[in-house]
Amino acid sequence: MALFEWDDRFSVGVTEMDNHHKKLFDILNKLFDDAREGKGAEAVAGTIGELIRYTEYHFAEEEAKLANSAYPHLADHKAKHRAFVDQLKDYKAQADSGGGIFVVNKVAQTGTDWLKTHILQVDQEYEQYLAK
Ligand SMILES: [Fe+2]
Ligand SMILES: [Fe+2]
Repeated sequence: MALFEWDDRFSVGVTEMDNHHKKLFDILNKLFDDAREGKGAEAVAGTIGELIRYTEYHFAEEEAKLANSAYPHLADHKAKHRAFVDQLKDYKAQADSGGGIFVVNKVAQTGTDWLKTHILQVDQEYEQYLAK
């Protein structure tokens, strides 16, 4: 069972960005499954590392797109991205120092909640500024 299933309500109107968001939810679902299946610390650390790397990649791509448009809230948007990456890195440090299953569940849950809210309240607003 997946923690979250993407549907059209979460579309930002840009296929490439929707695909990035779907991939992020896939990794978060994998993390949730790792926790449920009692995967070892190494597997879990690997999935959290994958989440951080893909999140950083997505944010860089999204920010580059917005920097090339008339989007007026880039500095604030970037700050929100940075804060999330910092939070993920903090969770990774907790997981690496023996936080175990509790940390993994927390990353999957809070990561999924953050991403849903960020897409609906922040990302969905940028479509109108992007050139078609
Ligand atoms: Fe964003
Ligand atoms: Fe995004």
